[in-house]
Amino acid sequence: MTWLIPLFLVLHLLAAIGWVGGMLFAHMALRPSAMALEPPVRLALWQRVFSRFFPLVWVCVVTLLVTGHGLTGMGAGRGSHTVLTMTVIGWVMAALFAYLYFKPYAALRSNLAAGDIPAAAAAQNRIRQIVAINLSLGLITCTLGVLARFFG
Ligand code: HEM
Repeated sequence: MTWLIPLFLVLHLLAAIGWVGGMLFAHMALRPSAMALEPPVRLALWQRVFSRFFPLVWVCVVTLLVTGHGLTGMGAGRGSHTVLTMTVIGWVMAALFAYLYFKPYAALRSNLAAGDIPAAAAAQNRIRQIVAINLSLGLITCTLGVLARFFG
């Protein structure tokens, strides 16, 4: 099945682009632009943005983990310290996203529904911090992914 490794690599790369690129856009372009809006409008906007982006992130997370382990299972990057580091960081990113989704994102939704704007703003701030961490880890991981074939 010589086609399986390139197929998994393409899916792996597309999932990384979707997740990391989405975080880059949200953090570097949408966030500073949305700061000009009043908190109730801004937080409602973020909730709408997240309701569309986070399901896509789940697809990217599952795709990255499945194809990543599929690739190592088929021998790609086996014994590579770079890929091992990518694996650890990948699982940390996935855990951080799961926490973000089930804790601060759930708090953002419930607080907005209850009209508690300060609490919703605190939840949004927590999401921002985690996205900033995952964005940094994602950029490092993509760099490792490319360097793996050169440095093992
Ligand atoms: C369980 C987690 C993961 C595993 C097991 C894994 C495994 C792998 C493997 C085996 C390769 C091929 C390396 C080679 O060509 O020698 C690869 C490439 C790559 N990975 Fe991962 N990975 C994981 C998570 C991630 C994450 C979270 C990202 C980014 C957000 C990522 C981004 C990349 C990139 C950009 C490449 C290079 C693709 C290319 O060849 O162009 N990986 N990964």
